[in-house]
Amino acid sequence: MSKPRDILITSALPYANGPIHIGHLVEYIQTDIWARFQKMRGHHCWYVCADDAHGTPIMLRARQESIAPEALIARVAAEHQADFADFRVGFDNYHSTHSPENQHFATLIYERNRDAGHIAKRTITQAYDPVERMFLPDRFIKGECPKCGAADQYGDNCEVCGASYSPAELKNPRSAVSGAVPEQRESDHYFFRLGDFEEMLRVWTRGGLQKEVANKLDEWFDAGLQEWDISRDAPYFGFEIPDHPGKFFYVWLDAPIGYLASFKNLCDRTEGLDFDHYWGKDSTAELYHFIGKDIIYFHALFFPAMLHGAGFRTPSAIFAHGFLTVDGQKMSKSRGTFIKARTYLDHLNPEYLRYYFAAKLGPGVDDIDLNLEDFTARVNADLVGKVVNIASRCAGFIGKRFAGRLSGALSESALFAEFVQAGDAIADAYERREFSRAVREIMALADRANQYIDEKAPWVVAKQPVRDAELQDICSMGLNLFRLLIGYLRPILPGTAVDAEAFMRIEPLTWAALAEPLLDHEIAPFTPLMTRVEPTRIAAMLEASKEDLSVTGATATAAVPDEPNPHLTRDPIADPVDYETFAKTDLRIARIREAKWVEGADKLLQLTLDLGGETRNVFAGIRSAYDPKDLEGRLTVMVANLAPRKMRFGISEGMVLAAGPGGKDLFILSPDSGAEPGMKVK
Ligand code: MSP
Ligand code: ZN
Repeated sequence: MSKPRDILITSALPYANGPIHIGHLVEYIQTDIWARFQKMRGHHCWYVCADDAHGTPIMLRARQESIAPEALIARVAAEHQADFADFRVGFDNYHSTHSPENQHFATLIYERNRDAGHIAKRTITQAYDPVERMFLPDRFIKGECPKCGAADQYGDNCEVCGASYSPAELKNPRSAVSGAVPEQRESDHYFFRLGDFEEMLRVWTRGGLQKEVANKLDEWFDAGLQEWDISRDAPYFGFEIPDHPGKFFYVWLDAPIGYLASFKNLCDRTEGLDFDHYWGKDSTAELYHFIGKDIIYFHALFFPAMLHGAGFRTPSAIFAHGFLTVDGQKMSKSRGTFIKARTYLDHLNPEYLRYYFAAKLGPGVDDIDLNLEDFTARVNADLVGKVVNIASRCAGFIGKRFAGRLSGALSESALFAEFVQAGDAIADAYERREFSRAVREIMALADRANQYIDEKAPWVVAKQPVRDAELQDICSMGLNLFRLLIGYLRPILPGTAVDAEAFMRIEPLTWAALAEPLLDHEIAPFTPLMTRVEPTRIAAMLEASKEDLSVTGATATAAVPDEPNPHLTRDPIADPVDYETFAKTDLRIARIREAKWVEGADKLLQLTLDLGGETRNVFAGIRSAYDPKDLEGRLTVMVANLAPRKMRFGISEGMVLAAGPGGKDLFILSPDSGAEPGMKVK
């Protein structure tokens, strides 16, 4: 074999304010398979990761739980690592961006870039929450979309019409933290001059990026490289900028530097592992970052530029992947398809998901779909029906009739050689991250092995005592083919491989060891290596994922909510009012007598509301969610004493009540049956 390569691999650092879910796992499983493959090939391969522990959302989340941010990130770090370990994601190190190593490197990289003139200072005007006394990131300002008027939109783009804009353009802006009206305030910020690196980045990007990534970069080059704001004002959970008290590094500055920090932490604990050999300017080691397609900008532009500006090497490549959908749709809490790693583990074997993702993953950025029926069928047919079946068909006879002893020679050495040969194409597929191709090739071999056993029919041979030697040969041959299949699947199914190795009583398989057959060797009694996926377990997992949501939705007052309720985060409960103030609003049951489109208005429906004798003409902004013909005849609740308002299309004499963020998610109220038009709601 050729000289071992030195390879450092990372996955993106998950945020320390939420649990790992199966979408994340697309990335960690993909990276882990590749790292395990490289190790099996005998390379010096290191796989490091860390929690991404800084930033405003983490600071606010800790505040919401009334704990220090350090306590929050410590708890989440333990949860993340338990989830990863149970999915058999085999990091060589898992660290944190809130660490001395990371502070050291963030500071160093900043200072070197500053001294080389790549940091600029500018005064910017930004939204400020006078109640919380903090500047507000765009995501923490909400208001009405300046384009379509939809309510409750974030400060940077509208989820209803898709428009993007600056937070200053929002109508009726509010702080999502306190509900206060934001003020505009000035503050000094520090910027990284990305434009200084255009030439260097153009050269770097020519070095073998995925074509989808290269195309994105071309777009960004064409648009012109903008200066990047790397500072944030206190209060902020992060590292203070050394020469600027009260200013902190923006979380995305120190997050990728966390890759260096985690590796440094590993070097400090590992004899003979040299940091500079992997990160120094002239490093000949390979450095790869696996990331989701949503964070290409940071990894393909800022990170290499900052590294270069500070005298470090740049990555050999970044490997971007697509997003996970479940049954063809975005993961959804209401459908129960927003599945946390822990919820999955409570119901199903992690090896199933590893196999399914591998069977779907290619080297590109296409999204991948977890189709739960296909998942069940595929795991049962391939892993249980084909691979494990080979062992169970052969092991019984070897155990009972030959005291666990395999034959001293291979009866079909050509077939064995064919299986060894196939390893080259499989290795090539792994190397190129074409995992779905690797899986196809391996399953073709599994079919071939089952066909061999079918042809030889050991259960028939077993009935004729004179054919004992033949029986032992057939079963030994079958188990040797099984051993090769397990070796090829080992990066994908590390847990099954360990169990199979214990059953075969062999050392952990390496690629180089595969070509040597197991002869005259005693194996252990066979125990089933994997059971079938039970559809009832999947149903239970979906149900439990729904429960997760109802628990967090219903217990807004619980001490430690699992996830912040998005409605309460966007719309905090308003200040108290006394009963008299509330009672001034006259709410009535009304029947929608007539509903029609309003010509020229893209969000309005015109409603004729019957209050049991009197009628009111009301323009309601519910067109995005309701078809007029579905409304006619329904009972609803209206504000009957709202002062009439002149609109472009006529006078609106009241208002119907609806819940929801807008767009398709708008829900008008209905009374229980028995309510009649005109009844007062109080
Ligand atoms: N903290 C940043 C990364 C910093 S790297 C220096 C971050 N964290 S994350 O928790 O939101 O996501 C971690 C990784 O998981 C990202 O690469 C992201 O693309 C990936 N995924 C998150 N949700 C995903 C899916 N639904 N599907 C596939 N990958 C997903 O981004
Ligand atoms: Zn809009």
